Amino acid sequence: MEIRFEQKAQLKEKPDQKNLGFGKYMTDYMFVLDWDQGIGWHDARIVPHEPILLDPACVTLHYAQETFEGLKAYRRADGKIQLFRPEMNARRMMKSNERLCMPQLPEEMFVEAVRAIVDVEKDWVPSEPGTSLYIRPFTFATEAALGVHMASSFKFIIICTPVGAYYAEGINPVKILVEDELVRAVKGGTGFTKCGGNYAASILGQVRAEEKGYTQVLWLDGVERKYVEEVGTMNILFKIAGAFYTAPIEGTVLEGVTRDSIIHILKDWGYPVYEQRLSIDDLMKAGHDGTLEEAFGTGTAAVISPVGELAYRGDTVTVNEFQIGEVSQRLYDYLTGIQWGREEDCYGWTVEV
Ligand code: COI
Repeated sequence: MEIRFEQKAQLKEKPDQKNLGFGKYMTDYMFVLDWDQGIGWHDARIVPHEPILLDPACVTLHYAQETFEGLKAYRRADGKIQLFRPEMNARRMMKSNERLCMPQLPEEMFVEAVRAIVDVEKDWVPSEPGTSLYIRPFTFATEAALGVHMASSFKFIIICTPVGAYYAEGINPVKILVEDELVRAVKGGTGFTKCGGNYAASILGQVRAEEKGYTQVLWLDGVERKYVEEVGTMNILFKIAGAFYTAPIEGTVLEGVTRDSIIHILKDWGYPVYEQRLSIDDLMKAGHDGTLEEAFGTGTAAVISPVGELAYRGDTVTVNEFQIGEVSQRLYDYLTGIQWGREEDCYGWTVEV
C-alpha cells in the first residue's frame, strides 16, 4: 500500500510518562484511509492528528455505523518496539465490519497501517514500566444521508495515545457490581463485535455501578439474566476449585485477544479451562463456600485486572481476601513479560516494528 506522509510543522511536547493515565494524550499523527463505493479503499495517508470535518447528517452520528479496535506497542529493554498479535485485531475488525455492513479492510493492510503509524510515532512509545502506546484503529461511515442503509463512504483511521494503567487501581483488585436489570448483548445482536454502540449501551450500568462505589459492571446473559458474560471493558475468568471458567464465544461475548492468550497459557500450564456457561448463582455459591479462588478480567487496555469483590442483589463475596490471586499474578507477569520482551515469546505472538 502506498502511504502519503504529510509532515507537521511543530511536534507536540511529550507528556510525563509517570502520569499518562489512559487515552488522555494524542500523538502527533494519524493514519487515514478512505473507502468509497465503486472504488474501494484508497488514499492511504499519515497526516497530523487533528479534528476531522463531518457533515451533521453523517450516518455515524445518527445510526452508529462504527467499529473499533485496541492494541498496544511495547518498548523493550533494548529500545526496540513490538506489537502483540496485531493480526487478531485485524481479523476481529473484519468480523465486526461484516456484522455492521461496513467494508472489511484486509488483514495485511490493517497490520501494515498499524506498523506504519507506529513507525512514524516511535518516539511516543513510552519506556516507563507498565506503559505502552495504545493504538486505536476505527472504521466509520462518512456518508451524509438520513435514510437507514449501508453507507456508501467510510473512513478507517488509526490514532495513538501513550498510556499507563487503564484502571486507577492498576493491578490491585477491583470491585464489580453484577448488573441484574440492564443487558449488554443477545445472540444475533452485536455483542461479539467491537462497535461503539455496545459501549454506549453499557454506560448507564457503568454510571450506576460507580455511584455505588464499584469500578465495573459484570453483565449477565441478555435472555435469562442468569449466566455471567463479560465485564464492561474486559472478558472475565474465574478459578473455581482449581479449574478456570469463562463465557463461551457464542455471539454475545467479545473475542478478546488477551482472553485467547490467557487460555492458551493456562492450558499449557496444565490447568483445565472451561469455556462454558456459568450461572451467577453457582458463582456466588462458590464465593461463599470458598471454592472461588480467583477472578480476573482480561483486556488489551486493562491486561489482567483482579476482581476483589462481587456484589449481586445485595449479596457480596470477597475474592481471595481482596488480594491478587497467585495464578493471576503469575499470568500477569508472564503475559506482560512477553509483551514487553522480558520473556521469551515461545508462541510467536510478538511482531517487531
Ligand atoms: C481494550 O481493551 O483495548 C478496549 O478496547 C477497551 C476499551 C473500551 C477501553
